[in-house]
Amino acid sequence: MRKGFLAIGAVGVLALGSLTACGDDSGDQAGGGSGKTPKIGVILPDSSSSVRWESADRRFLKEAFDAAGVLSDIQNAQGDKNAFQTIADQMITNGVTVLMIVNLDSGTGKAVLDKAKSQGVATIDYDRLTLGGSAQYYVSFDNVAVGKLQGEGLVKCLTDAKVEKPAIAYLNGSPTDNNATLFKEGYDSVLKPKFDSGEYTKAADDSVPDWDNTQAATIFEQQLTKTGGKIDGVLSANDGLGNAAISVLKKNNLNGKVPVTGQDADPQALQNILAGDQCMTVYKAVKKEADAAAELAIALAKGERKETGQTVRDPEGNRDVPAVLLTPAAIYKENVKDVIADGYVTKEQVCTGDYAKLCTDAGIS
Ligand code: BGC
Repeated sequence: MRKGFLAIGAVGVLALGSLTACGDDSGDQAGGGSGKTPKIGVILPDSSSSVRWESADRRFLKEAFDAAGVLSDIQNAQGDKNAFQTIADQMITNGVTVLMIVNLDSGTGKAVLDKAKSQGVATIDYDRLTLGGSAQYYVSFDNVAVGKLQGEGLVKCLTDAKVEKPAIAYLNGSPTDNNATLFKEGYDSVLKPKFDSGEYTKAADDSVPDWDNTQAATIFEQQLTKTGGKIDGVLSANDGLGNAAISVLKKNNLNGKVPVTGQDADPQALQNILAGDQCMTVYKAVKKEADAAAELAIALAKGERKETGQTVRDPEGNRDVPAVLLTPAAIYKENVKDVIADGYVTKEQVCTGDYAKLCTDAGIS
């Protein structure tokens, strides 16, 4: 059953078209009448900074394109900026009508977008805004709201645990990801007033290059050492970084005592939450993001213009980019079940081994 919080995420974009032909990952096909069948290229960033890209985004985008009967070619740059550019070049050569990218940084993202534009290929920034870029649309979540939920979540968990004057460590996302800046803006809006008033202290504030989970563990280990173990709460920008912090806390017998935040509702994070090792995560209904982006891509491919009713300011390019921004939701132990009910992850992925009992206790049936 659909839960209330999921409805909030809906935006006023149209339902996907009702074409019946199936999409195909390979080759070009001649379309009827007015030339080629639209073909959409998508470049995902990696498969290690978050499991979402391969397990959710690829799946939901492919489903949306197939349902609309358009061809698609979805590839993953695996964190390699050169590969990213090569994939884009190949897609353009192979005749994509629209290119959708999740940039690895704004510099290479901009180069790809500008090249596509010069070849008459329409572009969409998917999830991450390319600063100074030239995409026709930006489709994402309200990323400042994501950060606010993380800040509020950490406050809630520290308050519930009655921790006084907590010392907070930040594990921020990649400095090259504009989303990381927005997440921080969100959690700072909640936590900075508490640092300023002396209610909380900030023990550490580090960014994790490329959202690299392995580096995150090393960075968090250094934060713990530097503070003599005096960290009472970890504001981690996503689940991968959070899990890295939890692995270090486990080694120090501190897991469950130090609340850790996250983002993405990864199966592993949901298990960490059920076990009491993670305070919360932020669920982003990626299906809605994929559907909205696919719908805009298909419209662009047909040469149509759709109104999104909203824009986002690109401070580097000094332009307002037409945008769809969806609403995120906070997930605690009590509503882990909603993420499963929404079909984002399965009960089988979360309720394995020792987690089976924790799932039953949390009302996951
Ligand atoms: C996305 C997050 C993801 C992170 C690392 C961000 O841009 O919005 O969902 O966890 O990148 O891949």
